[in-house]
Amino acid sequence: MTERTTDLFGPAASDLATIEKELLQEIDRDPPEVARSMADLFQAGGKRIRPALVLLSALCGSYELDRLKPAAMAVEFTHAATLVHDDVIDRSATRRGRPTMAAALGDEPAIVIGDFYFAKAYEHASRTHVPEVVDILARTVMSICAGEVRQQAIRYRYSTDVEEYMQRIEAKTAMLLAACCEIGSLLAGLASQERAALSAYGRSLGLAFQIADDVLDYTGAEGEVGKPIGHDIVEGFATLPLMLSSIKLEEGRRLDQQEARRVADTVRNSDGPQLALALARDHANSARDQLTKLERSEATLALDSLAEYVVSRKL
Ligand code: IPE
Ligand code: IPE
Ligand code: MG
Ligand code: MG
Repeated sequence: MTERTTDLFGPAASDLATIEKELLQEIDRDPPEVARSMADLFQAGGKRIRPALVLLSALCGSYELDRLKPAAMAVEFTHAATLVHDDVIDRSATRRGRPTMAAALGDEPAIVIGDFYFAKAYEHASRTHVPEVVDILARTVMSICAGEVRQQAIRYRYSTDVEEYMQRIEAKTAMLLAACCEIGSLLAGLASQERAALSAYGRSLGLAFQIADDVLDYTGAEGEVGKPIGHDIVEGFATLPLMLSSIKLEEGRRLDQQEARRVADTVRNSDGPQLALALARDHANSARDQLTKLERSEATLALDSLAEYVVSRKL
C-alpha cells in the first residue's frame, strides 16, 4: 500500500494496515508454487481501493472489524486474480512496476494461479457467514467475465461507440467497486436506502476510475503508473480518449508497434484525453452526490476525497 493512498483512507487507514499484514500472512500459508508470485504482486504495491471501500462503507453503519476483515480480503483477492488474468488477455509485460505473472511464469501458470485466488476470494467471503456476500461477489465476477468476453469480441474494432464503452467499463470495473460498497453496507447493517446510495456511489466511482485509467494509458508516465503506456491501442482496445479524439482507424486491422505509437501520440496531443477526463469528473461528481444521502461523517468525507483522487491520480 502506498503512503499516498493510506492518507486518503482516513478513518479506515489503521484497520487497512492490519488487513494488509493479514493478506500477506494468508498468502504465506498457500502452496509456495502459487504463493511466491502472488506475494510478489502484493508486495509490489497496489492502491487497495477495494478493501478501503468495504471498510469506509461499513463505517457509515455499525462497524465490526472481525466481520469485515474476511470480506475486505475477499475483494482484494478477487481484484488480484482479475489483474493476473487481465495481463494474460492484454499480453501486458509489466504490472506495479514489475514483470507480470504471465511474463515471468508464462500464461498457463498465470491462469491457474488466478483461478486459485478467485477460489480463495470465495473462501474468504464465506467466512463472513453471510451468504449474500458470496452471492454479491459471485455475480460481480460473472459480470467481469462477461465484460471481458464482450471486449474480446470487439478487439480491433475501433469504431465502437461511447455507449458500448460505458457498458464495458461498468461490467469490468464499476460493478466490483459497487460490490465493495454494498458488502460493507450489508455487513454494517445499513438500511436499504443507504445501501443503495453507497452502491450507486461505488458504481459511479468505478466508471470515473476506469475512464481515468484509460486516460493514463495515453497520458501517464510509465514509471509512475507501473504498467505499459499506449498499450490499449497496441492490443486493439478502443477506449474513451481515442473515441473522443475524432481519429479514425481502419476497422479490424491490428496496428504494428510503430503505427500504434503514432496513433497514441496523436490521441495524446488531441483533446480526447481532456474530454474523457471531463466525463470522468462528471461521474466522480455523481458519486459524491450519492454521499449527501448519508449522515456526514469522517467516513463520508474520506469517500468524498476518494472521488476527487480517482480522477486526479497519476498511478
Ligand atoms: C487496475 O486497478 C485495474 C483497473 C480496474 C483499471 P487498480 O488501479 O486499482 O490497480 P492497483 O491494485 O492499484 O494496482
Ligand atoms: C481493467 O482494465 C481490467 C480488469 C477488470 C482487471 P485494464 O486492462 O485497463 O486494466 P489495466 O490497465 O491492465 O490495469
Ligand atoms: Mg489490462
Ligand atoms: Mg488500463
